[in-house]
Amino acid sequence: MNVRPITPSDINEVLKIEYECFKYPYPPSLINFLYANFRESFLVAEVDAIAGYVIGISDDVEGHIISIGVREGYRNLGVGKTLMDHILDVFIGRNLSYVRLEVREGNKKAIRFYYRLGFRRREVLRNYYEDGENAYVLVKRLK
Ligand SMILES: CC(C)(COP(=O)(O)OP(=O)(O)OC[C@H]1O[C@@H](n2cnc3c(N)ncnc32)[C@H](O)[C@@H]1OP(=O)(O)O)[C@@H](O)C(=O)NCCC(=O)NCCS
Repeated sequence: MNVRPITPSDINEVLKIEYECFKYPYPPSLINFLYANFRESFLVAEVDAIAGYVIGISDDVEGHIISIGVREGYRNLGVGKTLMDHILDVFIGRNLSYVRLEVREGNKKAIRFYYRLGFRRREVLRNYYEDGENAYVLVKRLK
């Protein structure tokens, strides 16, 4: 498996995965904006094809995982963990103190995945998503 920063020719594949993974996907305009502005922390995992992606942004202190998705046929093989390990390395390289993300309260699989990676729940954001579902804010200290 090869994890690397996204290139322009990967964008369509990433959009396909985003639409496959989420009921309310980020629109192409936002994915393009994130590509244009945060491409060093917009990573893709290649197996025989693009299997998944992770998008991170950061300020001076905090990293924020905006989205992570793995194509259905490539799940439970370690692609997600490998992507997270790489994005955490990018954030550690920026000397950030912690990393944060939001996850749907009902997304038990993703919550278990993040807990295994050392994330812990910091708060609940009521009615965070378009359909009224709550978000868990999960954080992990980096130093
Ligand atoms: C959440 C998500 C990114 C995880 O990606 P993934 O590639 O399946 O993640 P991994 O393979 O690294 O880990 C998933 C599970 O497979 C297990 N696994 C990893 N490699 C394995 C292997 N070789 N053999 C058996 N099991 C394995 C892991 O232990 C892990 O188990 P856990 O869920 O009980 O912790 C993926 O399920 C996904 O894209 N979901 C839809 C989008 C989504 O919900 N994104 C998060 C929004 S906040």
